[in-house]
Amino acid sequence: MAVEYDNTTRIFTLHTRNSTYQMQADSFGYLLHLYYGRRTKGLTDWALTFSDRGFACNPYDAGKDRTYSLDYLPQEFPFQGNGDFRSPMLIVRDENGTYDCDLRFKGYEIVNGKYSLSGLPASYSESDDDQTLKIFLEDERLKIRITLLYGVLYENDVITRSAILRNEGQETITIEKFQSACLDFTHGHFDLITFHGRHTLEMQFDRQEMNHVSHVIGSRRGTSSHQYNPFVILADHSATESHGRCWGMQFVYSGGFKAEAELDQYFQTRIQIGLAEEKFSYPVEPGEEFIAPEVIMSFSNEGLNHLSHNFHKCIRNNICRGYWKNKPRPVLLNSWEASYFNFTGESILSMARYAKSLNIDMFVLDDGWFINRSHDDRALGDWIPDEKKLGGTLSSLIRKINSMGLKFGLWIEPEMISENSNLYRQHSDWALSIPGKPPVRGRDQLVLDMSRKEVRDYVFDSICNIMNQGSIEYLKWDYNRSISDVFSHTADNQGKVLYDYILGLYEVLERIIERYPNVLIEGCSGGGGRFDSGMLYYTPQIWASDNTDAIDRAYIHYGISFGYPMSVSAAHVSVCPNHQTGRITPFRTRGTVSMTGAFGYELNPEKLSEDEKTEIREQIRAYKKDEYTIINGMYYRLSNPHTENLCAWEYVSEDGENVIVNALIHESHGNSPVYYVTLQGLTEGAFYIQEENGKVYPANALMDLGFPLPKQSGDYEAYTYHFRRM
Ligand code: GLA
Repeated sequence: MAVEYDNTTRIFTLHTRNSTYQMQADSFGYLLHLYYGRRTKGLTDWALTFSDRGFACNPYDAGKDRTYSLDYLPQEFPFQGNGDFRSPMLIVRDENGTYDCDLRFKGYEIVNGKYSLSGLPASYSESDDDQTLKIFLEDERLKIRITLLYGVLYENDVITRSAILRNEGQETITIEKFQSACLDFTHGHFDLITFHGRHTLEMQFDRQEMNHVSHVIGSRRGTSSHQYNPFVILADHSATESHGRCWGMQFVYSGGFKAEAELDQYFQTRIQIGLAEEKFSYPVEPGEEFIAPEVIMSFSNEGLNHLSHNFHKCIRNNICRGYWKNKPRPVLLNSWEASYFNFTGESILSMARYAKSLNIDMFVLDDGWFINRSHDDRALGDWIPDEKKLGGTLSSLIRKINSMGLKFGLWIEPEMISENSNLYRQHSDWALSIPGKPPVRGRDQLVLDMSRKEVRDYVFDSICNIMNQGSIEYLKWDYNRSISDVFSHTADNQGKVLYDYILGLYEVLERIIERYPNVLIEGCSGGGGRFDSGMLYYTPQIWASDNTDAIDRAYIHYGISFGYPMSVSAAHVSVCPNHQTGRITPFRTRGTVSMTGAFGYELNPEKLSEDEKTEIREQIRAYKKDEYTIINGMYYRLSNPHTENLCAWEYVSEDGENVIVNALIHESHGNSPVYYVTLQGLTEGAFYIQEENGKVYPANALMDLGFPLPKQSGDYEAYTYHFRRM
């Protein structure tokens, strides 16, 4: 069984195929964390130690026993008020203005199958091996009940957590902080791995040794953000890609978040992740509940690549849903970098004709297609096609593109409103804005108040009106600013707005996917500003970055791959000099880097040379040949581009038979060393034939020695090789 309970010791054990997680409801009713590591039999309560430590407070029920203190014991759900002065998961305020609670174990339930969360994305399971554990904690004074939820995704080595607070009393209880998961380690020498960035340079890998400062990352932007991704890894200081222990925590939520890691006075480590605390103060009225979003956790005893595989499988199989889950995606041409706002119906049709001749599957009309949208400072909210600019109705444009044998896709930014729009002139109070304070603008636009039902209905109806105009098979759902001015004109409490906004967004997305189940929705927020598994529950792919430069993208993809399967990350070949960096890279390199995930082009094909057009046809042919392995195979990082002049990555098909190796050498140098690529994940003892040259290699040598890359003839050269098991 995935979940076990030992009645004598009150120890709960969660088993996945390769990991075990253990906790104990102790004699005082406090829930102590015991173990999260490789799969083990037996109980681990012997790991707890008790001693009288200076300035360690003791619970009243411990009487004169000064050796029991939650200030150093490892906990499962640390809350403010129990004598633990480390950072808690939960802080609540009662009507007297006090902040302390006292939650004790009151019971449990083991349920077959994986729990779901009302109104929030959560991993799901179709496997009979997967189970849910519910643990109930209660505070008798405050009359609050906490249900801790644990989901066990057995085969994927994933344990999920969430928690629900229910107010069973007569007073309002206000939640000031509510984290979704925490891991306490009694000892260890760890590094913290996080992913920071900015617009057009997301997901930059960072690894720091844990020391005695509080390591805090997060987002106060109302979105998961470009600046930090809601994904953290704690790794043994000695852990590498293929060796050592590491633990990952990923927040399944698209709004603000906070992740904290703390090395305490006794060299114990606590790491936790959950909702951002700023601008959050959520009153829960008597009889009401509040749900903390889900966290996906995984443990690997075999290094970081293995940890990533657990997350990749979980997101592909247990987060992404619907028609496009695990399906090859159309190769598309997007109009944005090709023409920005400067197009006509004729120029679009001409681009589409070229696209078809290059074997592209879909044409995507990006921003600029609706009335008055000649610039990014206007018209958001007025989702009416500009027939003058398009040279006719949107329906007729779609028909013409379809009749060329191309699918059609469209860009939209539904959660936004421009001050220069009819919508704003009619409903200025639909924008988040504080009465009496001029709002802070972002890209000259304001954010619609998605916590309001009438706003959500408007957004839903606007999208349906557009979708019903023709065969629109793809929607790029954009979001181009951070949230400021958190004030909803109808909310009874402004501390609720940011959370309710995200629930509102999820509600509209759910309604859209129910209404249009076969439409491929690509998430986007100026690229990767909302690249999280909450969005992936609704949109099975996300535009990874507004940066299409192959070299910057290689770093971005490297970062993404730690927590997300590359198949959910969209990447396009664009022209050089690159519009974001000014860099010139070989066309082939741009193709190699973009073929990492959901593949496409973002350029005007009419302006290409014949050689480039031939190259595009060849890239599409190569992509279609490999796409099954790209979408379903195992992805391995083979180098660290931040410390090496080489960025190499590999896909191994599920059956281990086909291997695709990509390598990108950044700078070319005089009399340069030879670069070797060392493979991973091959079948030990087998032989592999390289398709390009027919050479046969022993798998073990490919994994230990690697194979040499050719001498470069310039900067930024990329290579792709295919190996087949014999
Ligand atoms: C954002 C997106 C881009 C493009 C523009 C259009 O920046 O990330 O890809 O769609 O908006 O305004």
